[in-house]
Amino acid sequence: PAPRRVFSAFQASGRLTLGNYLGAILPAVRLQDEAACVYAVADLHALTVRHDPAHLRARTREVATLLLASGLDRSPLYLQSRVPAHTELSYLMESTAHDGEMRRMIQFKEKSAAQEEVRLSLLTYPALMAADILLHRADLVPVGEDQRQHLELTRDLALRFNRRYGETFVVPEAVHPETAARVMDLAVPTAKMSKSAVSEAGTVYLLDPPADIRRKIMRAVTDSGSGVRHDPAAKPGVSNLLVILAACSGRPVASLSYGSYGALKKDTAEAVIEALTPVRERFAVLSADPAELDRLLAAAAARVIEETSGLMAAARRAIGL
Ligand code: ADP
Ligand code: NA
Repeated sequence: PAPRRVFSAFQASGRLTLGNYLGAILPAVRLQDEAACVYAVADLHALTVRHDPAHLRARTREVATLLLASGLDRSPLYLQSRVPAHTELSYLMESTAHDGEMRRMIQFKEKSAAQEEVRLSLLTYPALMAADILLHRADLVPVGEDQRQHLELTRDLALRFNRRYGETFVVPEAVHPETAARVMDLAVPTAKMSKSAVSEAGTVYLLDPPADIRRKIMRAVTDSGSGVRHDPAAKPGVSNLLVILAACSGRPVASLSYGSYGALKKDTAEAVIEALTPVRERFAVLSADPAELDRLLAAAAARVIEETSGLMAAARRAIGL
């Protein structure tokens, strides 16, 4: 069978966390062995909410560098804004979608409710996301639970376009990496660890020095009991440490046995440090040569522009342009 095509984009907003690493980056690194993968830093998506230009530019480079340092270096990795086909195809998707479909997206409702001035691009975000995926003829799209509704809309738009204008797009499927760990905040273990941090003290960032990682994990909130077992409802803190240790050490949770919380914390801290140290070291090497990063990103964008020009020509022709 033909190799599956995978596309995934990483947000350029915020500092990447251990949750992003274990839940999204590592699965993406592993997918490179099984499928033809293309990865992007979604800098355009960062414009949907209030932003600072210099901050966005710096964060975009940091995320790109971290992804390369994490091992996303065997597939094209580019900046979404450097491939104009994303925005062009997004417009074709806006012209395929209906106003109501966009307005009923849960993420739009939630995010727009929290803001005074809602950018129009926040509403049309799913059109750009559909364009991102369809541009690459991706048949597999790794998505978290929160993006499931957007992926459904992407499928609807692809099917509608194909039905109206002729077979043009591959209709993608979601993959929910089963092996991906769901990492909780160390200080509030009932909340997801997130770059929009619930608590700084409970969030491990990919570039945290070992001493910070050790401190955060040694201070992780557990419970007043003593048994070390995986039971997320009754023992969320301990269960989270077991999940993190398992994911970082490659050992299944069931094989981990500890007599005390202290010993579990110590081993978890060391396993996280061991997993993140090579990433931090490669990040330092790559950061020392910004011109090389520019070259890598530009070469990847050029390749994507070339590889997607046929699809864009077909889409324009189909819709009557
Ligand atoms: P964040 O919550 O840090 O802003 P996003 O919502 O942008 O992260 O998600 C980016 C990717 O990282 C998604 O694939 C998501 O499933 C994954 N991810 C984010 N946080 C975690 C977590 N705590 N545990 C596992 N995966 C996570
Ligand atoms: Na988020």
